Amino acid sequence: KILILDFGSQYTQLIARRVRELGVYCEIHAYDMKEADLKALAPKGIILAGGPESVTANASPRAPEAVFTLGVPVLGVCYGMQTMAEQLGGKVQSSDQREFGYAQVQLEAETALFQDMSDHLKDGKKLLDVWMSHGDKVISLPEGFQVTASTPSCPIAAISHEEKRFFGVQFHPEVTHTLQGKRLLEHFLLEICACQALWTPAQIIEDMITRVREQVGNKKVLLGLSGGVDSSVVAALLHKAIGDQLTCVFVDHGLLRKNEGNQVMEMFADNMGVRVIRVDAAKLFLDRLKGESDPEAKRKIIGNTFIDIFDEEATKLTDVDFLAQGTIYPDVIESAAVKDGKAHVIKSHHNVGGLPETMRMELVEPLRELFKDEVRRIGVELGLPHDMVYRHPFPGPGLGVRILGEIKQDYADILREADAIFIEELRAAGWYEKTSQAFAVFLPIKSVGVVGDTRRYEWVIALRAVETIDFMTARWAHLPYELLEKVSSRIINEIPQVSRVAYDVSSKPPATIEWE
Ligand code: XMP
Repeated sequence: KILILDFGSQYTQLIARRVRELGVYCEIHAYDMKEADLKALAPKGIILAGGPESVTANASPRAPEAVFTLGVPVLGVCYGMQTMAEQLGGKVQSSDQREFGYAQVQLEAETALFQDMSDHLKDGKKLLDVWMSHGDKVISLPEGFQVTASTPSCPIAAISHEEKRFFGVQFHPEVTHTLQGKRLLEHFLLEICACQALWTPAQIIEDMITRVREQVGNKKVLLGLSGGVDSSVVAALLHKAIGDQLTCVFVDHGLLRKNEGNQVMEMFADNMGVRVIRVDAAKLFLDRLKGESDPEAKRKIIGNTFIDIFDEEATKLTDVDFLAQGTIYPDVIESAAVKDGKAHVIKSHHNVGGLPETMRMELVEPLRELFKDEVRRIGVELGLPHDMVYRHPFPGPGLGVRILGEIKQDYADILREADAIFIEELRAAGWYEKTSQAFAVFLPIKSVGVVGDTRRYEWVIALRAVETIDFMTARWAHLPYELLEKVSSRIINEIPQVSRVAYDVSSKPPATIEWE
């Protein structure tokens, strides 16, 4: 196992993810963990991660001395390299100037870490494309160390003590912009630390099951199941771990996609034998939403109603001690800084069905440390259908934010049909996987059309399809005209209440992905 010491960088989790992608088990601990705990972990190698502080500042974080006396390989990244250099007798200089972004480092000496690596050759020197993000830099080496890479502005960009197997890189190997980052970590993990690549989805599941069982014992657990990927994976996992100790509450707000509610019940209750309480609350939601057309007010009503219903169901269940949530890493922490050994939350999730404030239950969040793609792989391994696990994201308020203005039952019904046609055609044309999110939007305006010899005066449906990596920015998907034509003609022909279909060609920013 590999130990990653966290100095508060937002990249720490990403390093962990890369390590796990390479099949090696790792644990993140705060930099100030007790030496006894560190020794008890018996890591095969240690990674000192980055951090926002300055090594030159008073009382800035340091690695425990044991890191350098255990006799295992150490890789310092960014702040981790600086503190390693400083703690072993080198010098770090602080600087107001930040070097941020793409850089080329020139390799200066043979080192096990950069074995057989080079992106470019210049004047017989090997160059690597890397991603830098730092202000301070190492200006003198500790004894026994050599410089292994440099840039014009950062002459000591990587260091090593080959004998002790201590390595430092000023750049970030964990980000994809560092082209050879994965190989660098592979060298460190598999060759230098001699770890074996055994950490597979099956192993991760075993580990999570053990931890859940330890946490909940023979007590009961409640889970809000939404049909989304994260809560579905938690349901499947907890069912496997604790069987009937798990009860799921599935609140159907009537703003789900076509057949979605039934599919959730079929998959979990019928096929897997999970105990699921379905609450059909469509009418209550519609009643409360009546007359409301402001997007934020609609979101609030949906969110609060959801919590009310969930709360009510939960109080009906006696002796439940734990509340499970499908929280995944990006939901919890956008950027974490180590303070008193704890990461603090910068951004909390705005999902429907947050934790009811009045509920005093301990949380079970088995996916808390995982990224979306890891959750998906685990979902497949747990036997969830591929199409379900790789589905586009769907907002908590559902069709509620895709019906512009006031929400009405017949609008929702029309939108569900149009959306189903769009998604079906996207899948058939092989475009579903090429887009990150695609859906139909109901516009409560009427437009004239002609069908046969008769004039039609009906509603407008807009189609939205985007490509994005992080959903913070997005490009509208350049769907083939033939595909759009087919979707449009099917929607207008099959849904008599629609007379016109439009395609949204706005990117984000300035437009958001959803229309409300
Ligand atoms: P926007 O519209 O902000 O959407 O560009 C970015 C991503 O967030 C989803 N989204 C939501 N998800 N509750 C959610 O759980 C919400 O209120 C909500 N609003 C937007 C949206 O679908 C897209 O994936």
